[in-house]
Amino acid sequence: MRHNSFSLPVSKGAGRRRARAGSKLTLAAGGLLAVLALAGCAGAPSSPFLPASTNAKAIHDLFLIVYAIVAVVFVLVAGMLVYTAVRFSRKRDATLPPQIEGNTRLEVAWTVIPAAALVVIFAFSLQTLFTISSPPPAAAGQAETSLQVRVIGHRWWWEFVYPSLNITTANELYVPTGVDLALGIESVDVIHSFWVPNLGGKKDGIPGHVNPFYLRVTEVGMYLGQCAEYCGTEHADMRLRVIAEAPDQFQAWVQRQQAPMPDLSGEAARGLDVFMKGACVACHTLDNTAAKGMAGPNLTHFATRKVFAGAVVDNTPENLARWLANPGSMKPGVTMPNLNLPPDQISALTAFLEALK
Ligand code: CUA
Repeated sequence: MRHNSFSLPVSKGAGRRRARAGSKLTLAAGGLLAVLALAGCAGAPSSPFLPASTNAKAIHDLFLIVYAIVAVVFVLVAGMLVYTAVRFSRKRDATLPPQIEGNTRLEVAWTVIPAAALVVIFAFSLQTLFTISSPPPAAAGQAETSLQVRVIGHRWWWEFVYPSLNITTANELYVPTGVDLALGIESVDVIHSFWVPNLGGKKDGIPGHVNPFYLRVTEVGMYLGQCAEYCGTEHADMRLRVIAEAPDQFQAWVQRQQAPMPDLSGEAARGLDVFMKGACVACHTLDNTAAKGMAGPNLTHFATRKVFAGAVVDNTPENLARWLANPGSMKPGVTMPNLNLPPDQISALTAFLEALK
């Protein structure tokens, strides 16, 4: 894990007394962080304090500036409060102290100083706002490398369309590091919000409107995301993953996604038959086939995905068979209906989908 000013204190000689006093807290917090890290499925801990993109870094830096100003104000105000309480507390048999009303100089000071602090914070905020909302040279078409991805919110999963690469996938957004990304956040139904804490601020997906989101991922890694706008029953399970890879590894992923359907035999071939003749084609697309349904995820290379169903279910044959038998039992409210498939069709479909490498 990378180190920054928000990492937990690790006692190293200096400040040993302080370290001992805080060691219980450190231990508790460290344990919590470890649990969170494990819960993150071996990805980077999901946190805005571990910025992995240009945007997240700009927002994080702004936070540190604001935090420093706020810390000074807190220490001053709390310090004066404690001092006053102790110094001017009522002494035994003391007489009433002189009663004063109004102090123009003091009142002007406590109006002007906070106003000045707010102006400073506003200036830094505005600067950060411009930094993260202006398209980088590449995304603006002024440089070579940039990648456009349409990010489309559905109840309750994410669709990712790479227009220049002819790839459509779901729930896992693969991107190269060091390349300017121009994401367009959209929605087909209600308002969703694209939020990957390590990569920067939230951006709403609004039906009938494209919200641009420019960033460059700087660190290789897997980052967890979550829909951040309440959108119905399965809002909490509308998750996503961003997998940032070095450009050559990203190229390998692209080639895999662009490859035609692998040759199928046996159970998997039978599954393709069930798929094409059944209800699946009404909602799902398989590139270069007659299956062109748009309501559900494009399944062309389904087996290359580690998760499905809004990135909440591990993509294993067991889970997939359970899902096909009754999607609503795994994700209540899901729009995919229970097709009451007989067991032999479920096993054929499972073999087929898990063969779509
Ligand atoms: Cu989509 Cu909440």
